Amino acid sequence: MKHLIFAFFLFVSVAVAAQEKLVITHGPYLQHLGENGVTILWTTNKDAVSWIELAPDDSTHFYLNERPKYYSAEYGFKDVSTVHSIRLNNLKAGTTYRYRVYSQEVLSHQGTKVQYGTVAATNVYRGKPLQFATADPEKEKKISFVMVNDIHGRNDLLENLLKKGANETADFIFFNGDMVSDMQNEEQLFGGFMDTAIRLFAKEKPMYYARGNHETRGNFASTFPKYFTSPSGKLYYLLRRGPVCFVVLDCGEDKPDSDIEYSGIVAFDAYRDAEKAWLKEALKSSEFIDAPFKVVVLHMPPFGGWHGEEEMASKFVPLLNEAKVDVMLCGHLHRYINQKPSNGINFPVIVNSNTTVLRAEADGERLSLKIINEKGEQVDLIQISKPESTSKTIFLPPKHENSKSR
Ligand SMILES: [Fe+2]
Repeated sequence: MKHLIFAFFLFVSVAVAAQEKLVITHGPYLQHLGENGVTILWTTNKDAVSWIELAPDDSTHFYLNERPKYYSAEYGFKDVSTVHSIRLNNLKAGTTYRYRVYSQEVLSHQGTKVQYGTVAATNVYRGKPLQFATADPEKEKKISFVMVNDIHGRNDLLENLLKKGANETADFIFFNGDMVSDMQNEEQLFGGFMDTAIRLFAKEKPMYYARGNHETRGNFASTFPKYFTSPSGKLYYLLRRGPVCFVVLDCGEDKPDSDIEYSGIVAFDAYRDAEKAWLKEALKSSEFIDAPFKVVVLHMPPFGGWHGEEEMASKFVPLLNEAKVDVMLCGHLHRYINQKPSNGINFPVIVNSNTTVLRAEADGERLSLKIINEKGEQVDLIQISKPESTSKTIFLPPKHENSKSR
């Protein structure tokens, strides 16, 4: 009898699961927005084939025409998945586009026959279509951005810091690592910080990620690039926005690869060697050389005495010194530090705390970095001026905050 009851409940739960409606569970959100492209990602509760419809930002209704559709179709097959990542290429620089995302459930695929289920899509009937604007370094004479780091899954803190940094008026946001303490599964990733980011800005405003050492931990860590996909496939990249070329670097772990904490599963020394080789070439590009300001975004600072920090100092700093970068923006230490050029580092290193937000403005002549605490008070102001012959950096005395963890 017990077996019959169990079989009945099993049948009912399978039947209910089969009837569960297809829904978008997280997103959409923008990644790697550049002059001519953007990646849009979202997730669904069931396997689906997905596409984006794109419309110009004119006064027409989204339903005026059938809008062009864009799929993710590597090797010629449309992707069927619960994680949907579609790259839009060949866009016009400095242009606003409206978009709608769609997913259609794939019920079965046998031989050449595919059976489809219901469709889920973002709303363009009751709600305004989502939109994004591509970058244009020629026209973007002035830019603003906000940087947070070391959030470690605290959504209230993330929301408060973004608001204190006036994220709604910024052009884009940097997440400079350790947004969660480890990567266990998709729900933890979104529940830890991304759902908050999507609610506050990430559907329409680009966010750029510099991975921290904590994002490299946990059995879900190797899937990080699937959710923060990069056109180059790398987690380190150059980004040109207005007068600034950002050199976004990936730090890896903080202890030696052989440490007991990593259970023999990491190889970051070799990874950083490959990153160094990439950096050497990237710093010779016109994208970097022609930019009035050169800003490094790197979670782990190149000082502190731990193995990872020493790797930053020995592998990246000599190249960055030679390339005359203006400033490096870090996190990781859970305290605020404004370090003047010293000890073989020829540029200032600003370490943002886990309880402060960095708000930056840049035009062709000045880069202004404001550090703001949880109460909205200004902790520090760093201003870097151009042209280089009159370069002037103002350092105000830092207020250090203490924390043991990092
Ligand atoms: Fe860290």
